[in-house]
Amino acid sequence: MISDKIAQLLNEQITKEQYAAQYYLSMSAWFFAQDLDGIANYFRVQSKEELMHADKMFDFLNDVGAEIVIGEIAKPPHEFMSHIEVFEKALEHEKTVTRSIFNIVKNANDEGDFATVSFLQWFINEQVEEEANASQLVTKIKMVHTNPSALYLFDQELSQRVFTADPAN
Ligand code: FEO
Repeated sequence: MISDKIAQLLNEQITKEQYAAQYYLSMSAWFFAQDLDGIANYFRVQSKEELMHADKMFDFLNDVGAEIVIGEIAKPPHEFMSHIEVFEKALEHEKTVTRSIFNIVKNANDEGDFATVSFLQWFINEQVEEEANASQLVTKIKMVHTNPSALYLFDQELSQRVFTADPAN
């Protein structure tokens, strides 16, 4: 049985994942406005992934019989100073999400709620991957941002990303 505290943390995490989706969609829009449609595609796919994360938590709360309370999603920033800033903000945001997931795991572990700990293992692994990807993209955009040919190729590379639904679902 899940405690009210863990249920509340997971409900709040749903909102955080949905906020991340909005934030990435905002970044996507910013890159579309720069005519960098490949990078815009990357962030749009990332936005869909975040909604998938929220859905997984929604399903888990339902499975354990917890009350699901949908929260309010704040408006994300929509103006950015540079290409680099967007990627840095994305990395920063992933680190925030990681800390938030770790906090739920710690609380669940302290309560002996091993169902939640087990459920969140997928998210721990996902955050390792997401931080690694975001960090690599910060490095790459710093390499290419002043070279139009390189930026064009980078944009092409990110245009290849497609959304794939979680195979575990
Ligand atoms: Fe759902 Fe990018 O963390």
